[in-house]
Amino acid sequence: MGVSIITGEVMNIIEDIKAIYRNDPAARNIEFLLYPCFHVMLVHRFLNHPLSRLGVPFIPRLLSQVMRFLTGIELHPGARIGAGFFIDHGMGVVIGETTVIGKNCVLFHNCTLGGTGHVADTRRHPRLGDHVLMGTGATLLGPITVGDGAKIGAETVVINRDVPSNCSVVGAPGKIVRENGVLVDKELPVATYWKKHHGSEDLIVGQQNVSG
Ligand SMILES: CC(C)(COP(=O)(O)OP(=O)(O)OC[C@H]1O[C@@H](n2cnc3c(N)ncnc32)[C@H](O)[C@@H]1OP(=O)(O)O)[C@@H](O)C(=O)NCCC(=O)NCCS
Repeated sequence: MGVSIITGEVMNIIEDIKAIYRNDPAARNIEFLLYPCFHVMLVHRFLNHPLSRLGVPFIPRLLSQVMRFLTGIELHPGARIGAGFFIDHGMGVVIGETTVIGKNCVLFHNCTLGGTGHVADTRRHPRLGDHVLMGTGATLLGPITVGDGAKIGAETVVINRDVPSNCSVVGAPGKIVRENGVLVDKELPVATYWKKHHGSEDLIVGQQNVSG
């Protein structure tokens, strides 16, 4: 079983390297070795995430903080990241513990995948589908779902709302400006989790269950 996990992570890191060349025209020859996302993903895939899944205390968080110090990327050991993940520039990125990221996603610097501080649940952070792009400074908060192929514009803020597949969302608060290639002007739907927990589409945040 251990061998198959290692083989899987080797395949994932190869896809991460391909993603660097696919997404950054400035990457040449063996320059993937210089990318902070490569350094972070090496440690995350082969040490932090497996140790975290084994329930090892302290060490994964320690290593994660060392990597944050070196790269400016704070990636919690618990986060699940699909193959072909690329963070351009790196600095200022925060990815929370229960975040799930699909395949071939791209983040720019200063992106946040965080909790709202109002949900004490097993899942507090966003779940991204495949081929999602988050522009610089984009902030996604809460256990929201972002569909495949969605683009979150630079400096966009989405809180407690889901993002449908194949659309572009921009602004603060984020609105849909493109859906399946067509320009639109639409509100984002209230997050599924919110409706489940609150039984309502009212987005007024309660005072209970405050957590990080
Ligand atoms: C959202 C984005 C992915 C473009 O998606 P798109 O589907 O091609 O959307 P368009 O470019 O056609 O823009 C649609 C509308 O949204 C607006 N828009 C695009 N990005 C925006 C943003 N980040 N904030 C506010 N408005 C934005 C456009 O001006 C346009 O408005 P208009 O119809 O009134 O002219 C892109 O604008 C973006 O933000 N990319 C992030 C890139 C980045 O972070 N680079 C960092 C390099 S270091």
